[in-house]
Amino acid sequence: MPTRIISYKDLGLVNSRELFRKAIKGGYAIPGYNFNNLEQLQAIILACVETRSPVIIQVSKGARKYANQTLLRFLAQGAVEYARELGYNIPIVLHLDHGDSYELCQDCINTGFSSVMIDGSHLPYDQNVALTKKVVEYAHLYDVTVEGELGVLAGIEDDVASETHTYTQPDEVEDFVNKTGVDSLAIAIGTSHGAYKFKPGEDHAIRLDILAEIEKRIPNFPIVLHSSSSIPQDIVKIINDNGGRLKDAIGISEDQLRLAAKSTVCKINIDSDGRLAVTAAVRKALNEKPEEFDPRKYLGPARDALKALYMHKIINVLGSNGKA
Ligand code: G3H
Ligand code: ZN
Repeated sequence: MPTRIISYKDLGLVNSRELFRKAIKGGYAIPGYNFNNLEQLQAIILACVETRSPVIIQVSKGARKYANQTLLRFLAQGAVEYARELGYNIPIVLHLDHGDSYELCQDCINTGFSSVMIDGSHLPYDQNVALTKKVVEYAHLYDVTVEGELGVLAGIEDDVASETHTYTQPDEVEDFVNKTGVDSLAIAIGTSHGAYKFKPGEDHAIRLDILAEIEKRIPNFPIVLHSSSSIPQDIVKIINDNGGRLKDAIGISEDQLRLAAKSTVCKINIDSDGRLAVTAAVRKALNEKPEEFDPRKYLGPARDALKALYMHKIINVLGSNGKA
C-alpha cells in the first residue's frame, strides 16, 4: 500500500459524511466552491464564516496544474486557521473536483484531501462501477469520502469537456451505489458546465422530475448537483459594459436550485458565477481607473464581489446559513 503522507484530520479538515447527513435532514445544500488562488479562497472563507455555513472547497485537476497542488493544500490548511481567526470554526471539506483517474484520487488522498470525486461518467457503466469501487476502497481506508457520477454533464470545465448531455437513468442508481460503495452521487438532470448552459429560446428548466425519481430509488442518499451556476445577468452586463464580450450566456434558475436544495441534493457546485463576478469586478476597476497598476486595487474589489456572490448563494439558494 502506498504510504500516505498527510492526513486531512491533522490539517483540521473534515470529510463530507456527517455534513451530508445533516444537510439531508435539514433540507439544505452545502456549497461546493472551487478555488485556484488566494483571493478566491479568502472570499469563500469570509462568506462562509459570516453566514456560519459549512463549506466544501474544491480543487480541480486544472487548478492543481495552474496553482501547484502543494500551494493549494497549504492554502486549504491555512483556511482552517483563517476561519478560526475570523472567529468561527466552520467545517471545511477539501475536495478533489472531477478526478479522472485512480492515481489522481490516490495522490489527493495521500496529501490531505478529505473527499474526492472520481468522475467515471464518460466510461461504459461497468467500467465506471469498477473504477469508482477501486477509489472507494482506497479512500475508505483513510476515512476519505468519495463522490461518483452517473450520467454525462455537457459543457466545458477545465480539462473536462463533453458536447452531449445524457440524463442519469434512475434505473441505474441503486445498483451503482450498492456496487461501488460511494458516499455521494453526482447526477445529470440538465445542468451543464460553463456560462452557456442553454441556447436562447430553449427551455431552461432542469429535470427535477428525474431527481424525484432518483430519490425514490435511493432514499436519503446524498445527491450532488454540478454545473449549477445561474449566470447572473447583472454581472454579465457589467462585464459587457466594461469591454467584455459575453453573448447569450444563460444559467440555471436559482428558484429551481432552491427547490433541489430542499431535497436529498446536499452539495451544489458553483464555479462559473464566481468567475464572472471576479471578471466583472476586475474589468470595472481597471476601466474606471486605467492608471491603476497595483493588483490589490483590482483583486481586492474582485474578492469583495465574490464574497457577496457566495453569501447570496448560501442565504438565498442553498440555505446552508447558520448550519455550521
Ligand atoms: O464542478 C464544478 C461545477 O460543476 C461548476 O459548474 O460551470 O455551472 O459553475 P458551473
Ligand atoms: Zn462539475
